[in-house]
Amino acid sequence: MVKMAPSVLSADFAQLAEQIRIVEEAGADWIHLDVMDGHYVPNLTFGPLVISGIRKITHLPLDAHLMIENADLHLPAFHQAGVDQLTVHVEACPHLWATIDKIHDLDLKAGVTLNPATPLSLIEPVLSRVELVLVMTVEPGFGGQRFIPDMVEKIAALDAYKKKNDLRFEIQVDGGIDETTAPRVVRAGATVLVAGSSIFGEPDIAAAFHRIKKAAETSLLKMA
Ligand code: DX5
Ligand code: ZN
Repeated sequence: MVKMAPSVLSADFAQLAEQIRIVEEAGADWIHLDVMDGHYVPNLTFGPLVISGIRKITHLPLDAHLMIENADLHLPAFHQAGVDQLTVHVEACPHLWATIDKIHDLDLKAGVTLNPATPLSLIEPVLSRVELVLVMTVEPGFGGQRFIPDMVEKIAALDAYKKKNDLRFEIQVDGGIDETTAPRVVRAGATVLVAGSSIFGEPDIAAAFHRIKKAAETSLLKMA
């Protein structure tokens, strides 16, 4: 079973409660929250204040993707806002081991992310300590970018490492996921799909959600 984590980055924030309700009813597993600080990535989005509002309108796990500098400083505020898991960028966390400890000390699940140009070897030392690895399939910062096909090989290498070492982390993929790319990444080993514009950018949000999920699951069935 592939998990679906719609990213509200492409939602209409004037209708956020309604749009989250639609994906929740459609069967979303997590809500993906893209936190950007205008430093680590050029874009600015939202932080703990907005997330605490989102916490009130859904029971789904809140999956926060932190594209920020000095993440350690802000971890308690995200915990306070009600997130369930925090994913940090290896490139922005010089003391990654300690950051993962801090996330776990808050009783949250910890994830680590790789940009397209970052090799897997950089996170190997922490792979036995995280609940999630996020493979970026676009450069972080904006929704609606084109999927980078070379990342399929990275996902497959990560999945091979996971199996070889009998590890349990989720493999999440983020960027340019739609009904065409979803089957490619799940066949390579992705277990959680983030999708923003291909869900919230469509006139029928629920139908778009179902199309992507079905495409992913059908391709897995064909493999079995
Ligand atoms: C980009 C974000 C993504 C974004 C994906 O930095 O991490 O989660 O919402 O958007 P789409 O699905 O439109 O590529
Ligand atoms: Zn994201």
